Amino acid sequence: MKDETTPGLEGVIVAETRLSQVDGEQGRLVVCGHDVEALAREHGFEAACGLLFDGVLPDASRCEALRRGLGEARVRAHAQLPELGTALETSEAMDALRAAMAHATEAPGEALDAKLAITGAVAVVVAAWQRTRLGRPPLPPDPALGHATDLLRMLDGTEPSPARAAALDAYLVTVAEHGMNASTFTARVVASTGSDAVSAVVAALGALKGPLHGGAPGPVLDMLDGVSDRGDAEAWLRDELASGRRIMGLGHRVYRVRDPRAAVLEQAVTRLEAAGAESRYLAIAREVEKAAVGVLAERHPERSLQTNVEFYTAVLLDAVGIPRDLFTGVFTVGRVAGWLAHVDDQREHGRLIRPRQRYVGPAPQPALAG
Ligand code: COA
Repeated sequence: MKDETTPGLEGVIVAETRLSQVDGEQGRLVVCGHDVEALAREHGFEAACGLLFDGVLPDASRCEALRRGLGEARVRAHAQLPELGTALETSEAMDALRAAMAHATEAPGEALDAKLAITGAVAVVVAAWQRTRLGRPPLPPDPALGHATDLLRMLDGTEPSPARAAALDAYLVTVAEHGMNASTFTARVVASTGSDAVSAVVAALGALKGPLHGGAPGPVLDMLDGVSDRGDAEAWLRDELASGRRIMGLGHRVYRVRDPRAAVLEQAVTRLEAAGAESRYLAIAREVEKAAVGVLAERHPERSLQTNVEFYTAVLLDAVGIPRDLFTGVFTVGRVAGWLAHVDDQREHGRLIRPRQRYVGPAPQPALAG
């Protein structure tokens, strides 16, 4: 047995999976045999769920069944909202989501139904948290709508334009699955003990919340605001680094080139703008990206620090009207599908995840003779 430690498990392969390949050198993300660019351009979230849950892209009738299943799941989750009591009355969306999902129990029945039930519930809770803090009652879902469209409708009360819904749909597809990231690994650890999918999702939510993982896009907008106020991107970035802070939305554990999802999301915002919805942040984001990559290259010539998914996530979610403290919640709406696919994968092929540690504490004191 090897005795060297691997901090952060960097480079350690902990599973074989058909779900996705993250190529950090080439900047390529393949989900069940499909490049993420093509998936996000040509398919919606329901199809991405089908791909992740079944391993193949669904045909039209399967896609329709998934759309119906997710719609029914949203309706069921909405009916259960009163059981949550005050769980939605928190200042942090992710805390509300964690409390609400902890309330769920895995419904007996078809495994696919259970996955759709959990996936549908996340969108309903995210929307309900937003309505609750505005002092308005949560809006009932419309099961006939696509998941992205209905999420925007449940948030705003009006049906979104097709372009806005398409941008959010592309986002959900883009973030649904991304290899052995911290929250997915967390879900797999829980699943590896034989525990249930709801518990795996609740644990994964805790991991996703952290700013080094899914909590970065809100601070990305704070940065873009800070740069706008100062009027000098490079000076703002240098001050930030001098204060010992990291530049949010840059750097990645695996990618040594620009995260391919950054390009997919940047294009989605460009399409949204072409459809007439102007983004407040796209132009400044491009400027800050260029400056940040330059400043970080100077500071870390040994490590390529490029834009990650969170950078243009912030720009896209703002452009479709999501408030910044709900960004990580909306990330969860997409990523939960990946977690659930990994939970199944772990159950089917995995083994109890139980690594070791190296003890560096004091030796026990010899017992006093006596
Ligand atoms: N800004 C400034 N410096 C950064 C940086 C960033 N965004 N990302 C990495 N670095 C620096 C680190 O400070 C470290 O320098 P040091 O050795 O002088 O301390 C070096 O690059 C290596 O970083 P490390 O923490 O080992 O990389 P990691 O693989 O553990 O971290 C992230 C990856 C994503 C956690 C990291 O890049 C980061 O914190 N990014 C900002 C948060 C973010 O965007 N998160 C969303 C991820 S999708």
